[in-house]
Amino acid sequence: MKPLVDPFGRAVTYLRVSVTDRCDLRCIYCMRERMRFLPRDELLTLEELERLCTAFVGRGVRRLRFTGGEPLVRKGFLELVRSMRRHLGAGLDEITLTTNGVQLADFAQDLFEAGIRRVNVSVDSLDRETFARIARRDRLPQVLAGIDAAVAAGLKVKINTVALKHDNAHEIPDLVKWAHARGHDITLIETMPLGEIDEDRTDQFLSLARVHEDMRSYWTLHDLPDRTGGPARYVRVEETGGRLGFITPLTHNFCEGCSRVRLTCTGRLYLCLGHETSVDLRAPLRASQDDALLQDAIEAAIALRPKGHDFHIERLSQPATTRHMSVTGG
Ligand code: GTP
Ligand code: 5AD
Ligand code: SF4
Repeated sequence: MKPLVDPFGRAVTYLRVSVTDRCDLRCIYCMRERMRFLPRDELLTLEELERLCTAFVGRGVRRLRFTGGEPLVRKGFLELVRSMRRHLGAGLDEITLTTNGVQLADFAQDLFEAGIRRVNVSVDSLDRETFARIARRDRLPQVLAGIDAAVAAGLKVKINTVALKHDNAHEIPDLVKWAHARGHDITLIETMPLGEIDEDRTDQFLSLARVHEDMRSYWTLHDLPDRTGGPARYVRVEETGGRLGFITPLTHNFCEGCSRVRLTCTGRLYLCLGHETSVDLRAPLRASQDDALLQDAIEAAIALRPKGHDFHIERLSQPATTRHMSVTGG
């Protein structure tokens, strides 16, 4: 079947699937303490998610990343991964996972056996109190145990850190040193205005262009051409020997090379993280066991892909979308 190419000539080869909007943390930049989650009966079943993912693989998607919310809180999640495993090497290059790490210790071995080789784990602080303040839950020890278990199981771990002016800015060099000493890549992320939260994001916004600039005063950074299919730009830190990524949607735009679309757990396809444009795939999926309608809907959706996101620093206090990152999984 024809590959998916959007109106700007970008091939869609990367599907991110949020398997649940629920999460066992409540990170301050992401969610409210009291979140209203989707009613369970609106979720696609695991079989439906599998059918959807398979339809995308048939149209040229080579990378599949499961996210949430927190993917490991979805019951039966491993079954979904296991069911997609058969596509590895037959269209699909990799299946990856983005997790907060809280339950990773219990799942690491099974994830590896299900065909996952890389996981991205969020760590915003190595100080237990700071972590508990940012995540609104005291779970740092579990996350660190989860990372150890992942490594022991043979998974390659990348660390994600959201840069926050008041909460972890001073800790960033230590986080980088820690990650690199353990052999992990680490990516710093600017806060993005997705969904209402309890605080003002402008107040916590830290420009990574600034962080990068500051780092040059104490480290030697070499630009790397490496791309993982994600929007991060990487440097090699000479002093630690490790790779450091910057995801800077607010200070630098990277949409021109974007290959990804996002599927939510209700079957909505979002064409860009920073746009409301989306198409429902649940109705065509359920309308028939044959995939013809679904394929038409996917094609029509890709034709609606916007050129890029609409994030602006001066509008950071106003969400660019009403939907939280936990709905589309980053
Ligand atoms: P790999 O590069 O495949 O390792 O993955 P990744 O870094 O894209 O995956 P991860 O789930 O770790 O994403 C990290 C964060 O990057 C996401 O949660 C988002 O915050 C951000 N991000 C990922 N993709 C996009 C994108 O298309 N646009 C924007 N603005 N941010 C993105
Ligand atoms: N802005 C930037 N990053 C966010 N994340 C969640 N919400 C936001 C936001 N509003 C991050 C998480 C995780 C990744 C999936 O997205 O910390 O690392
Ligand atoms: Fe959960 Fe990730 Fe949002 Fe934190 S950032 S509350 S771990 S979905």
